[in-house]
Amino acid sequence: MGKIRRMKEKDLEEIMGIEREAFSNPWSPGAFLSELKNPFSRALVWEEEGKAKGYIIWRSVLGEVHIINLAVAKDSRRRGIASRLLQRCIKSEAQASYFVLEVRKSNRAAIELYRKHGFRVVAEIKDYYSFPKEDALVMARSGRRG
Ligand SMILES: CC(C)(COP(=O)(O)OP(=O)(O)OC[C@H]1O[C@@H](n2cnc3c(N)ncnc32)[C@H](O)[C@@H]1OP(=O)(O)O)[C@@H](O)C(=O)NCCC(=O)NCCS
Repeated sequence: MGKIRRMKEKDLEEIMGIEREAFSNPWSPGAFLSELKNPFSRALVWEEEGKAKGYIIWRSVLGEVHIINLAVAKDSRRRGIASRLLQRCIKSEAQASYFVLEVRKSNRAAIELYRKHGFRVVAEIKDYYSFPKEDALVMARSGRRG
């Protein structure tokens, strides 16, 4: 059994392990630390048997919720962890006007996950990512759909 709780500084070692296996251009520990200190940011982890197995980070400013990081440990994927983290974000930002995020155009798993949670492609940004260079899809959903 797992649970969702706030991310803490002591999670960083485990989080960095997940981050490095999840992304070709991973965040640095400093990037996570600065989100933990940012009053506009929320960072949650999925904890199982005392270990962080996934996490989500978003910023909420003036009714816009921007999801800026979401990843699940490789050995724990396809068990609904990302879905639970995303649902918690949407539920805890019940006052939001809309939710938005960027995703690599080739990231079928994430695009499918976001579609399932009501996100739709609203724009594309050319060469948004580096290492490797790739376009981003901007996906968004309204905050008033439940
Ligand atoms: C994308 C990611 C977060 C999904 O995490 P997860 O916990 O495995 O996702 P869930 O188990 O909640 O999956 C929910 C739905 O998303 C879709 N999905 C997830 N992984 C998929 C895959 N590999 N291929 C196709 N669809 C997938 C499915 O529709 C799935 O529902 P189903 O299992 O009932 O078919 C995970 O693959 C990951 O960490 N990837 C690397 C980091 C990343 O890309 N983050 C997003 C950046 S924008």
